[in-house]
Amino acid sequence: MIEILNPAELDRARATGALLGGILQTLKSRTAVGTNLLEIDRWTHELIVGAGAQSCYVDYAPSFGRGPFGHYICTSVNDAVLHGLPHDYRLADGDLLTLDLAVSLDGIAADSAISFVVGASRPAESVALIDATERALQAGIAAAGPGARIGDLSHAIGTVLSAAGYPINTEFGGHGIGSTMHQDPHVSNTGRPGRGYTLRPGLLLALEPWVMVDTDTLVTDADGWTLRSATGCRTAHSEHTIAITDDGAEILTLPRG
Ligand code: MF3
Ligand code: CO
Repeated sequence: MIEILNPAELDRARATGALLGGILQTLKSRTAVGTNLLEIDRWTHELIVGAGAQSCYVDYAPSFGRGPFGHYICTSVNDAVLHGLPHDYRLADGDLLTLDLAVSLDGIAADSAISFVVGASRPAESVALIDATERALQAGIAAAGPGARIGDLSHAIGTVLSAAGYPINTEFGGHGIGSTMHQDPHVSNTGRPGRGYTLRPGLLLALEPWVMVDTDTLVTDADGWTLRSATGCRTAHSEHTIAITDDGAEILTLPRG
C-alpha cells in the first residue's frame, strides 16, 4: 500500500523527523572510543521515551530477521552494514559505526541512518565510503519531487555509488513510510530513469544508499539479524526520510534549528 499524507499528517511527519534527527545527533555526540553498543541502545530508549515517542524496532519481526528485534536502534560496526543488533562491544578508535533509527510520534514514523568514524583517526577508505553514500543520498533527494518517478531516484543514487567504484546490492533499499515504517514503494539503489511509481505531494520516502567496499554479497551474523559484507570489508549507510511537497522534496530527518 502507498500512503499519501494530508497537510495535518505532513506536519506531524515534520515533528517526527525533527525529533529523530535530533536523537541521532545526540547519540553521535555522546559516542566515543570505549562507548558500548548497549549503552547507545539504552540512551536511544531513554530519548524515545523522554520524547513521548515509540520505537519502530523493538517488537518488529520481519521475514529478514530472527524474531522480534528486541532493541531500539541498529548499531552496525565496520563489516556490519544493515540491521546491526546491539551487543556487548566497546567501540575502538577508527571503527566505522552506522546508527539506523526509526521512531513513531503521534502515529507517523520516520527513519534515518548516519555513518561516522569513531575517535580521532580518519581512515581514507572509510571516509570515501561514507562520502559516497551521503552524496548518493543527496542525489536521490535532488531527483525527487512531484512528477518524478521512482526509477529517477534509483538511477541518481546508483550513478553516484557506481561512479565511486562500489558494487550495488539490490536486496535492501529505500521504501515508502508513513503510519508504519516499511511501506511501498520500494526504492532500489540502482535503476532506470522514467520507470516506476510517479511521486505525488504527501508521499513520504526513506532513501537509504548503502555500500560495501569490494562485494555485493551479504552474510547474516549468528545473531540472526546483523548483515555483514561477505568479504569482511568496510561498509557505510546514509538515510533520510523525505516528504514530497508541491515545491519538491523536503528532508524531514534533520535536527530542528
Ligand atoms: N530502519 C531500517 C531501514 O532502514 C530497518 C531496520 S529493521 C530492524 O529500513 F528490525 F532491524 F530494526
Ligand atoms: Co529505512
